[in-house]
Amino acid sequence: MKTAVITGASRGIGLEHTRCYAERGVRVFATVRSLADAVELHTIAARSNGAVNVVEYDAALPDGHRSLKDAVGDTPVDLLLANAGIMGDRAQMFGSIDTEEMLELYRVNSVAPLRLAQALAGNVANSTRKLIAFQSSQMGSIGDNKSGGYYAYRASKAALNMIAKGVANDLKSRGIIAVTLHPGWVKTRMGGSSAPLSVAQSVAGQQRLFDKLTLADTGRFFNFDGKELPW
Ligand SMILES: NC(=O)c1ccc[n+]([C@@H]2O[C@H](COP(=O)([O-])OP(=O)(O)OC[C@H]3O[C@@H](n4cnc5c(N)ncnc54)[C@H](OP(=O)(O)O)[C@@H]3O)[C@@H](O)[C@H]2O)c1
Repeated sequence: MKTAVITGASRGIGLEHTRCYAERGVRVFATVRSLADAVELHTIAARSNGAVNVVEYDAALPDGHRSLKDAVGDTPVDLLLANAGIMGDRAQMFGSIDTEEMLELYRVNSVAPLRLAQALAGNVANSTRKLIAFQSSQMGSIGDNKSGGYYAYRASKAALNMIAKGVANDLKSRGIIAVTLHPGWVKTRMGGSSAPLSVAQSVAGQQRLFDKLTLADTGRFFNFDGKELPW
């Protein structure tokens, strides 16, 4: 793997993927919403001998992907990891649904990864590894929804799951592997301090998985430990 594009790299899972790939000598286009706030990422970039390029990208903007495509240019992209995501207001309970919040979650968690895949599909097709990974969540699994609530987050990730399956079907003939991921319940700002997994455990598992995926795996939904998940 020579080059990766990772969104949501200012903190959490995206930051750890960037750190680990930079250590492995992979060139990373790592995105942040605000250059001024990404202190840890800038430190990693400064130590990377130019391997980590920090790029501004806001998934909530309809043309947010343009800045990233401009930065990447025609560089072949072995891995596109659409990782940026938001949870929204944790309530999201039946009886208190806010339309604008739901649409914001669709914008960031569902539509933006698809626009990104469209913008960078040519770069991925020109690479050796040819991998697009969508960071979804088990909370987007309809079969796994046994507790209700979290309508906006669950629905936006279920939409992402469907989108990922469509992308897998549409890009298979170009040799591109497109998979959906659940990183586990991870200690990050989103996952909270009670989560059982560290970012290091989750990311190590996901990178092991990325190393062994083949075209036969396209369109599948994977836990961080490589086990397949039901939709
Ligand atoms: N942690 C878990 O237990 C867990 C479980 C299942 C799935 N996931 C998924 O894993 C992914 C990473 O989550 P995390 O736990 O690392 O969360 P996190 O610590 O909250 O990080 C989220 C990242 O997404 C970025 N982001 C948010 N809104 C954005 C936007 N509009 N445009 C561009 N970037 C944006 C954030 O950037 P800023 O710094 O600019 O806000 C940050 O870098 C998410 O897609 C999440 O749904 C996490």
